[in-house]
Amino acid sequence: MARKFFVGGNWKMNGSKAANTDLVQLLAKGPLDPNTEVVIGVPSIYLSQVRTLVPENIHVAAQNCYKVAKGAFTGEISPAMIKDVNVDWVILGHSERRNVFGESDQVIGEKVGHALDEGLKVIACIGELLEEREAGKTAEVVFRQTKVISGFVKDWSKVVLAYEPVWAIGTGKTASPQQAQEVHEQLRNWLSENISPEVAQSTRIIYGGSVTAANAKELASQKDVDGFLVGGASLKPEFVQIVNARQ
Ligand code: PGA
Repeated sequence: MARKFFVGGNWKMNGSKAANTDLVQLLAKGPLDPNTEVVIGVPSIYLSQVRTLVPENIHVAAQNCYKVAKGAFTGEISPAMIKDVNVDWVILGHSERRNVFGESDQVIGEKVGHALDEGLKVIACIGELLEEREAGKTAEVVFRQTKVISGFVKDWSKVVLAYEPVWAIGTGKTASPQQAQEVHEQLRNWLSENISPEVAQSTRIIYGGSVTAANAKELASQKDVDGFLVGGASLKPEFVQIVNARQ
């Protein structure tokens, strides 16, 4: 079975009630390819607002959540709260969570496990730092991150794996289509050997890091690139072209 093309927008800490309304109107106008699954990652304070604004063909994601249902965790939100506002996706393990906020592989794994147990679908992010790539450690790093996450996944149909090389995020330095394909293929082989060939065949592995309308088509033509996680360009009209990048 063909994997459905998946494009996530990661708004990060951007937006306002007015700007969100404008952006959603632009996306609603599209037109968006009906064969692409579209999910926009919105700051938690705007999840309710955006959820009520978006048409049915656009799904909404939180950008983070905690690993337990409720309690004394000031500033955090839980998967139960995300579900309570009718949002069904969450982005976890983003490189900014890992590198700016110091989240470990283990904590990210626990968050993935709890979010899935609570019925959310998860965009799980992995990716190497520049110095790790330069030291020839890309595969080692992404396999380590994926292994920890996989220990908390019972149902891979609820998970999209986002490969985002940290050196390509927000830098304008996109991985070349060949660089992306190489890592995506390694990840698919890893899933085949460590989980099952079926999971490897059906799991979407998406690429993130300076994706734009200009580079999306060539990246999307790679065999193992099943879509994108888009930061900066998800705030712009070109996000529509990225959603429609698969030929
Ligand atoms: P970028 O961000 O597209 O701005 O590089 C991607 C991401 O952080 O998901």
